[in-house]
Amino acid sequence: MVHQEAIPLMTPYKMGPFQLSHRVVLAPLTRCRSYGNVPQPHAAVYYSQRATRGGLLIAEATDISPTAQGYPETPGIWSQQQIEAWKPIVDAVHRKGALFFLQIWHVGRVSNTDFQPNGQAPISSTDKQITPDESGMVYSKPRRLRTDEIPGIVDDFRRAARNAGEAGFDGVEIHGAHGYLLEQFMKDSANDRDDEYGGSLENRCRFAVEVIDAVVGEVGAHRVGIRLSPFVVDYMDCVDSDPVALGNYMMQQLNRHEGFLYCHMVEPRMAIVDGRRQIPHRLLPFRKAFKGTFIAAGGYDRDEGNKVVAEGYTDLVAYGRLFLANPDLPRRFELNAPLNKYDRSTFYIQDPVVGYTDYPFLDDNANDSNVHV
Ligand SMILES: Cc1cc2nc3c(=O)[nH]c(=O)nc-3n(C[C@H](O)[C@H](O)[C@H](O)COP(=O)(O)O)c2cc1C
Repeated sequence: MVHQEAIPLMTPYKMGPFQLSHRVVLAPLTRCRSYGNVPQPHAAVYYSQRATRGGLLIAEATDISPTAQGYPETPGIWSQQQIEAWKPIVDAVHRKGALFFLQIWHVGRVSNTDFQPNGQAPISSTDKQITPDESGMVYSKPRRLRTDEIPGIVDDFRRAARNAGEAGFDGVEIHGAHGYLLEQFMKDSANDRDDEYGGSLENRCRFAVEVIDAVVGEVGAHRVGIRLSPFVVDYMDCVDSDPVALGNYMMQQLNRHEGFLYCHMVEPRMAIVDGRRQIPHRLLPFRKAFKGTFIAAGGYDRDEGNKVVAEGYTDLVAYGRLFLANPDLPRRFELNAPLNKYDRSTFYIQDPVVGYTDYPFLDDNANDSNVHV
């Protein structure tokens, strides 16, 4: 028998109390197929297709309250109906032996009045509107949250985490990335407040820290991760003048919680060097500073993923578009098999099958050429 050594991505890893059998994580992916903000049975098919024994899946960003929505047909986790609808989806994933975390989010000003209760203005740290870009998307002018309203939003995060536990999720990932509400407070291009939630770095991070503390208090540090993107600058007018200081401060805040499970960080946009995508690998100082499990994401393929795990740059690697298009991505990596190409045009459509559950498995191709009698 030929003994083949496992590639770094396919080696086991202990994440806090959880035993993982490999390091290929499903990144959170908004798919806009939860009609009326209620997760649908087709999500059970989609997620269980991507589940493996000992794998980690992070479910799509999920609205913590009715004001949290910014895209069509995103799921919620604030009502009993939504909790009940998530249960069979979580069960389907658990039956395959995978761990399942829910990403909880509030989009803040990345919304418009059509998504808001009673057509009201979206809420934010600021009343500055996002500059319309060439995509044609227009986000409404937001309403600046009053200081005394902020504890209510923190409570919405707390309740969402509790509800996720009731639905059966193994834990939650706080969405602190990509220009949504937490970043609208954290980053100084978006936060123009003069109360205790604005100004100094400590003040700008206060809201995120209160959300972290509330969620940890509700479900326990070993069930909480967070996604952060201090370096991402070209998204939703959210830039910080000192991303290194911001990231370092947040690492200290996470470390205050003994056993805080994971920090999931997004690389800066990739540069193209000599015709090849280059991942900037700027996250190392944060990985060194943070005491828990580190997950890196953004532009990784098989080779880059193996490299960063082997080097100890990260513990786990989250894959977005490749996992979207390859339900059996860990297996394909293991076998070094060819990958399906993703179809960008179906990322956010509302179809329950097309571009969602119809990407083929490796075996499907094999079956095409085999005659079964
Ligand atoms: C269709 C689509 C939906 C996404 N939705 C989310 C989301 O809900 N939450 C989030 O944090 N990131 C989201 N992202 C970003 C991905 O999680 C990931 O960071 C990004 O695609 C880069 O990784 P990749 O190069 O492996 O695709 C989304 C990306 C895509 C393509």
